Amino acid sequence: MQKVAVIGAGYVGLVTAACLADLGNRVICVDNDRKKLENLKKGIIPIYEPGLEELIVKNRKSRRISFINSIKEATRKSEIIFICVGTPTQGSHGQTDLSAVEKVASEIARAMNGYKLIVSKSTVPTQTGERIKRTVEMIKRGSVDFDVVSNPEFLREGSAIYDTMHPERIVIGVESSRAQELMRKLYSPIKAPIVVTNIPTAEIIKHACNSFLSTKISFINAIANICELVNADVEKVAEAMGLDKRIGRQFLNAGAGFGGYCFPKDLDAFIHFAGNKGYDFELLKVVRKINTDQKKLLMRKIEDTLWIIKDKNIGVLGLSFKPNTDDIRNSISIEMIKMLQHSQAKIKAYDPHAMGKTRTILKEVKLCKDAYETARNSDCLLIMTEWDEFKQLDLFKLKKLLRQPVIIDGRNIFDPQRMKELGFVYKCVGRC
Ligand SMILES: NC(=O)c1ccc[n+]([C@@H]2O[C@H](COP(=O)([O-])OP(=O)(O)OC[C@H]3O[C@@H](n4cnc5c(N)ncnc54)[C@H](O)[C@@H]3O)[C@@H](O)[C@H]2O)c1
Repeated sequence: MQKVAVIGAGYVGLVTAACLADLGNRVICVDNDRKKLENLKKGIIPIYEPGLEELIVKNRKSRRISFINSIKEATRKSEIIFICVGTPTQGSHGQTDLSAVEKVASEIARAMNGYKLIVSKSTVPTQTGERIKRTVEMIKRGSVDFDVVSNPEFLREGSAIYDTMHPERIVIGVESSRAQELMRKLYSPIKAPIVVTNIPTAEIIKHACNSFLSTKISFINAIANICELVNADVEKVAEAMGLDKRIGRQFLNAGAGFGGYCFPKDLDAFIHFAGNKGYDFELLKVVRKINTDQKKLLMRKIEDTLWIIKDKNIGVLGLSFKPNTDDIRNSISIEMIKMLQHSQAKIKAYDPHAMGKTRTILKEVKLCKDAYETARNSDCLLIMTEWDEFKQLDLFKLKKLLRQPVIIDGRNIFDPQRMKELGFVYKCVGRC
């Protein structure tokens, strides 16, 4: 049993805290959002993540996990401290806002009452570990010892518990054998290869992974756009490409492009970081441009089909940036809705889990109780998130409810041939 503090009770922090508690550690989870903490103490989980609520309830009962707002108290009572706060983009040039990381590192330094292992799990630009180390060194009182570790997180929202308990690898950027041993001990119940390296390499690994995955998505979207020009089917291209083990099928899904909290901001951050170091990362700039253009292409498909967007009723299925999460940060769906509203369309929308979060940021969208209500009297149904629920919709019923049988599918969830046979005007991405 190790004494662990997790600072930042968000998508990464809560999952990390719950999993480490479930592995038998004593975990104190800290956040500065009082409302979030009050809810957590009542057993109300602020995010939708399959399995998370059960895990937190179970570990609260056995007193292995607790929620407080004091970094000082958590630091004093723990040996290993994870920093899991947000690292959003600052301004328009892709620079990362590291103010939360700096604030947390400073508070930890002020509270240290013995050896502490400070673990950065937030996604940060390379050399942030070094900055954390310098800051703690400068602020700490007396001769207390500490180590800084970079332990980037690779979990995927929607399968975050599984990913944390069964990771494909654990990356540990360390500078001392003491830090390495503590991290190995903490992760010993988890069966996964451990890659041990220095801190800057660990930080680069995270950015390299996310930008490679973004590149795969933009690559297949570029192929999809060519497919549309020559009557070819990108799904078949992806299937055949994916059978090649050197390539793999994952992240070869053509569509409206990638959104979410991580990919867009991490891509911007890596381009910005590389540029600052004197390397113009042109490849990633093109990846970003293709992704931005995908939304515009989808918008053009809607205009091409409906002609005039003004006053058209458009039903949107899916608001979260991907299925199995309620996260709408940088969701392409939300961006599309804003573009359509700008063209004066009337929007109705439905999502299985992201309605609450959407309500707080989108005005003048009628949120519906299900997909069928969204389709009722709509001039067009726009599919933006590939929830399983949408794949199983009764298409006959949908056709009757729509004012005209038009479906624009930004996630390629239906077979175009079948949709044609059913009498839909069905437009998807890169499929004939
Ligand atoms: N969400 C993901 O899928 C994912 C995956 C891998 C890595 N990451 C990275 O992990 C980090 C966290 O991401 P997230 O999605 O969990 O963010 P989040 O916004 O969901 O959570 C961050 C939490 O930190 C809290 N916080 C901020 N400042 C604080 C402070 N000074 N003291 C205490 N708490 C504070 C916030 O209130 C919030 O609850 C980011 O760097 C992100 O890039 C995220």
